[in-house]
Amino acid sequence: MMETITSVEEMKVWSRRICGDDKVIGFVPTMGCLHEGHLSLVNASLSECDSTVVSIFVNPAQFGPDEDLESYPRTLEADKEILRSTGVDVLFLPAKEDLYPDGFQSFVEIEGKTNYLCGKSRPGFFRGVATIVLKLFNIVNPHTAFFGEKDWQQLEVIRTLVRDLNLDIKIAGQPIVRENDGLAMSSRNRYLSEEGRLSALSLSQALKTAQSRIEQGERSTEIIRNEIRQMIEQKNGTEVDYISVCDPEDFSESEEIRSRTLIALAVRIGKARLIDNRIIERA
Ligand code: PAF
Repeated sequence: MMETITSVEEMKVWSRRICGDDKVIGFVPTMGCLHEGHLSLVNASLSECDSTVVSIFVNPAQFGPDEDLESYPRTLEADKEILRSTGVDVLFLPAKEDLYPDGFQSFVEIEGKTNYLCGKSRPGFFRGVATIVLKLFNIVNPHTAFFGEKDWQQLEVIRTLVRDLNLDIKIAGQPIVRENDGLAMSSRNRYLSEEGRLSALSLSQALKTAQSRIEQGERSTEIIRNEIRQMIEQKNGTEVDYISVCDPEDFSESEEIRSRTLIALAVRIGKARLIDNRIIERA
């Protein structure tokens, strides 16, 4: 039966007990409003680990002042219902006051990689992510933590955090889960109007087209970037934040498309800011 733990101390005690029994803990940190993408992380943990902890915490430190912290969808009862049917051992629901008490003043900063893509357009975002992820790691003490590849840069930033700070935690990336029509699953898809939902299809479609163009021999980063932009801007209500054709690990761009390339993009459609990406390996 799924246990719900809200206290940081209790979570640590639970984790010490499980580790003492030589069991492997899998961890899926989330901000709730769970969808199939989260469930693929949960299922990966359930199949690889002895015990699985899922956390739900809408982390204020990763939202900018003009972002959607207040309106971020919170669907706790539905989330609990979903998790109960999966076989998850613990739902960890920490309180904001316990994670960021008065006097809190320590943050984790990852340099370099965070100067690009979402790090560039959302200053402070990765500082907030790295800080909460390290805190949650210290509390839950997992052997393996699962993250979605939709947030490719986040995954890379967390891998860097684990490597640089010598954490003994395996980071497992899981493939993007898409709706039948290609839209990458995201809690923020809820913000889309009917028309916006149609326009949002252009993200995955443009990425797919770009992949075919590269496979057919196009080698210019600029041409691919412009073609993607055109496909997306043709659709109503889209506003491109960034499109990058870059190295999948350090996010640097070069004029000529390399053998292994990440195409990552962020687009605003109404209230929603959506991200998507594709890794392209060419022969
Ligand atoms: O990807 C998310 O949902 C969040 O950024 C995370 C990793 C749970 C940290 O708050």
